[in-house]
Amino acid sequence: MSKLFISCALPYANGSCHLGHLRSTYIPADIYARYNRMNGVDVLMVCATDEHGTPIAVRAEKENKNPLEITDKYYELICNDLKNCNISLDSFRRTTDKLHYDIAQQYFLKLYNNGFIYDEEIEQLYCEHCKRSLPDRYVEGICPYCGEEGARGDQCEVCGRHLNPTELKEPYCLICGNTPKVNVSNQYFFKLSHFQDGIKNWLETNNSLPDNVHNYAYDWVKDGLRDWILTRDMSWGVPVPLEGVTNKVLYVWGEAFLGYISSAANWAHKHNLKWEDYWNDKVVHFIGKDIIYHHTIFWPGMLMGNDCKLPDSVVAGGYLSLEGRKMSTSKGWVIWVEDFLKDFDSDLLRYYMIVNAPLSKDTDFSWDDFQRRINDELADILGNFLHRTFSFTERFFEGKIPQPGKLDKLDEEYLTEIKNLSDEVGKSIENFEFREGFNKIMKISKYANKYFNDKKPWKAIKENPEEAATCLYLSNQLAYVLSIVLTPYLPGKTQEIRKILNIPTETVSGFTQFDNRKPKIQWSETKNLLEIDHKINSPSPIFNKLPDEIIKDKKEELYNTLKEEEKNKEEDENMSNLISIDEFGKVELKVGQIKEAENIDGSKNLLKLQVDIKEDELRQVVAGIAKKYSPEELIDKKVIVVTNLEPAKLFGVKSEGMLLATDSMNLLTTEGKVGESIK
Ligand code: 2FM
Ligand code: ZN
Repeated sequence: MSKLFISCALPYANGSCHLGHLRSTYIPADIYARYNRMNGVDVLMVCATDEHGTPIAVRAEKENKNPLEITDKYYELICNDLKNCNISLDSFRRTTDKLHYDIAQQYFLKLYNNGFIYDEEIEQLYCEHCKRSLPDRYVEGICPYCGEEGARGDQCEVCGRHLNPTELKEPYCLICGNTPKVNVSNQYFFKLSHFQDGIKNWLETNNSLPDNVHNYAYDWVKDGLRDWILTRDMSWGVPVPLEGVTNKVLYVWGEAFLGYISSAANWAHKHNLKWEDYWNDKVVHFIGKDIIYHHTIFWPGMLMGNDCKLPDSVVAGGYLSLEGRKMSTSKGWVIWVEDFLKDFDSDLLRYYMIVNAPLSKDTDFSWDDFQRRINDELADILGNFLHRTFSFTERFFEGKIPQPGKLDKLDEEYLTEIKNLSDEVGKSIENFEFREGFNKIMKISKYANKYFNDKKPWKAIKENPEEAATCLYLSNQLAYVLSIVLTPYLPGKTQEIRKILNIPTETVSGFTQFDNRKPKIQWSETKNLLEIDHKINSPSPIFNKLPDEIIKDKKEELYNTLKEEEKNKEEDENMSNLISIDEFGKVELKVGQIKEAENIDGSKNLLKLQVDIKEDELRQVVAGIAKKYSPEELIDKKVIVVTNLEPAKLFGVKSEGMLLATDSMNLLTTEGKVGESIK
């Protein structure tokens, strides 16, 4: 029996799962795993929470907690999110497991002993107040490339550039706010450059990498690979296992991958199996497209350095936006899985996320489009076909699969389509083209509805009962085949179809249990047919339409967060309109008296004024008040003049000040003494 190791990218244990995680990684991985299990493959599907790294460490310090308090909580939450979406993981562990530490250290040591790790003094930031060095996310400052404030020590969110903390301008320690200084420290590097040719060769010879993954990785290799710093000066993480080295941990990306292995090893040890048997047969990593580099360059390099087999494929899902905007967890522009599942079945999410774009492409979740696809496609096409088939069978044939009559050309064609369906869907799934697979299911369902309409069994039952029997015979056979090929896609709903069809159902909920991880339903059963006279159960609709109200509520809920966000932004902007007393103090205001005034040729708005601002010191000011005042009526008016404004030329006339006036051009006048400053 062939074996298959499937991994899903490890979620960081500092947030729950949102729809983007499910779309890019977990739903496709689960479809692939279920399909393979149904084909007799011995699948081991693993994941774990990624619990180290500076974001979690910084957050814990800020909240005055032990990082484990945070990761314990999110381990549970993520575990529930994945279980509730029926992601059939065999093992879901944590990178804080002791076994993970052991395995990650072993891998590091082997790289070290094989000569692929070297140490070097580097410059890094050090906070004297906190008495610690400040790796990546411990520090923020101004991006040296785009000038954005609040750029992180590892990357600027605005221009996307990867940064070194020492590159930041005006850096500050995120814990205490003080300015760090630069010091030197010894760090360990992985000789990724050594594996340049090996990785290039792997990319060139591996035909199972999807194009988006292959092309992205290949561009990097062409440009030449740089060595990777593999350690950090901090205490939260897997300690560097070298004698005499203290307070250094492995960089989170230097050990997270081993989470695949440690999660698998944990499971294998428990069941007296070897995870290597799975790895050495076939490995497929499911990830989001933001970490293609890590999985196709860095990880294969680490594996080569450890004399391990490389992955057979890496499948990367595109980004998910929300209602046309980039998702943002910090701004609340996000749909959490837990919230989604309060109102909707997880299979609806699986359907929408699979069919609305090919996996490799970015796509959008919109509530209206979600409703449209569920109502017009899942309910109106697939649901309608199933329901009319079952209801007519119950009504006209006492719920029994009827004996068909002689098949005509249309029936023959229909039967051929039914028989080919599982091969076609299977091929798509094997090629990671999950959307194409489902499209074939929808296409045949549409075809089946048309066939049903053409055959009119409600009429034929009176005029030509044999024809009605053939129609229902074939339609039930399609329902039966659908109850198999839909299992990887919609594991929960498919069991409802099988219950109505009165055939064995699969246990689908949550993670797998070791004892029943082999599916009861095999893909090859699509080649069987339901027996004549097989009795089905009374149907009720399987896919119901989503009412407008619920979609309206969900949209309102989401858009309220946007309003809140805009309100905050407006407040922030208002705050940024404020100027300090010092700034205001820079404006020089004086009492002046207008001595001369004349029109400016060619301008209807401007007047040229000579204003006395100190005994007999006349200042020339051009003012836009000609529509309000005639030159004559201005003479001797005492006004307020800004006297330290940069000189400017208006209509070719020099102006060295400004008179204060309201929006409607009423001059602010005063009783003060000429030349007096205004405070
Ligand atoms: O990008 C991320 O969310 C990482 N936590 C993924 C790690 S996957 C692998 F390295 F294990
Ligand atoms: Zn500090």
